Amino acid sequence: MKIGVVGGGYVGLTTGVCFSSLGHDVFVVEKVEEKVKKLKEGIPPFYEPGLEELLKKMLMEGKIRFSTNIKEMTEFSEIIFICVGTPPKEDGYPDLSQIEEAAREIALHLRDYRVIVEKSTVPVRTSYWIERTIRLNLHRPVEFDVASNPEFLREGSAIKDFLNPDRIVIGVSSERAKNILLELYKDFQCPKIITDISSAELIKHASNSFLAMKISFANLLSEICEKTGANVEVVTHAIGLDRRIGTDFLKAGIGYGGSCFPKDIKAFIKIGEELGIDMSLLKDVHNINERRIDIFISKLKGALWNIKGKTITILGISFKPDTDDIREAPSLKLSRRLREEGAYLKLYDPKAVENAKREFPENPPEVEYFSDPYLALQNADAACVVTEWEEVKKLDLKEVKRIMRTPIIVDGRNVYNPQLLREAGIEYYPTGIKF
Ligand code: UGA
Repeated sequence: MKIGVVGGGYVGLTTGVCFSSLGHDVFVVEKVEEKVKKLKEGIPPFYEPGLEELLKKMLMEGKIRFSTNIKEMTEFSEIIFICVGTPPKEDGYPDLSQIEEAAREIALHLRDYRVIVEKSTVPVRTSYWIERTIRLNLHRPVEFDVASNPEFLREGSAIKDFLNPDRIVIGVSSERAKNILLELYKDFQCPKIITDISSAELIKHASNSFLAMKISFANLLSEICEKTGANVEVVTHAIGLDRRIGTDFLKAGIGYGGSCFPKDIKAFIKIGEELGIDMSLLKDVHNINERRIDIFISKLKGALWNIKGKTITILGISFKPDTDDIREAPSLKLSRRLREEGAYLKLYDPKAVENAKREFPENPPEVEYFSDPYLALQNADAACVVTEWEEVKKLDLKEVKRIMRTPIIVDGRNVYNPQLLREAGIEYYPTGIKF
């Protein structure tokens, strides 16, 4: 089928590349010219395992093209996916102006029937506004449908998640749109939920909020464990074995970050409150996440006594492994707080150093960046595990002990076996485990 995508960001690019890999012809429009230039050369604007290779292959096969021209894309495509950003406003509500702009521009060039599909995460009822914007901006009467098809891919495993979803959600208001989207997804074997558009829109915010709630629940348990001597790893594993609960997304740690959970929770709280609903459940999910950094720092103080003048290594900057994304990364929140207290920081990450430097500038000797973990650990007074990169998990602990000034590790991801650290002579402070 002929597929148009508006927006060459995380969701748009993955959607485009994956659909082209399934044999469809894809046209991606992106308004930032520099990005389009790079994409035409096969260079994605972010790191995602396997994406660059697949993009290059699809370009070679002529299955995907990139342009700034929304008119050409609208004429070319049978189905148009809107994958533009919906960043949070001051009050937490998503800024939907890019969605409106996309809808208006599509309308200006619409000559024949098209299905226009929201894939970006949007508040429930956004399709009403998209439909209205298109209708008001049409040059002449043209039939069209608006649909919702939320995306559930995770950064770091985007291609795999896109091609092997747990379910596909299709929100439609006409048989015609339903049949087109079912045809598009006909080779996917997972359950397909065909529903009204509002339900489809709601499913996305509800999914992310529920997952964040599981994480905050595990983090709340870790607080109790640290005060009582219980072990959060054992507790979460055991509760997760109840199939009604499930073991996934119950990993206690330094808190969730990224471009989705923090933003989507705040948005969902706002959406509910505007409907007059008490959203305190999700406010607590957010509050528990916010205090993860405080708890981490008090643990660090318990080990170091004073922070001022100490050299602290941050192991992992990206908000999770296998990505260079630093949006809402706990590492940077922690780093800012430690700088305020007068620490010297050595930040290590295998992929995210360049992005981090833009957000939190290098300023030796106060703030230094490293792409070699051993150089970052040299003469450190303490190391903080913030992102569970393989490179961090696999550190040679004897060497770590040898090169640090004082061998102290505070672990926000529980990546090490406490026994092995003790044997290596390292003082170890995991999360939710009194040690
Ligand atoms: C999340 C959802 O998992 C996707 O399904 C969704 O499509 C995406 O948001 C989105 O809305 O676009 P993502 O933000 O890429 O995906 O990453 P996750 O793997 O969900 O991790 C989010 C954060 O939670 C990370 O900081 C991670 O370290 C943290 N986390 C995750 C925990 O602290 N504990 C866990 O048990 C799991």
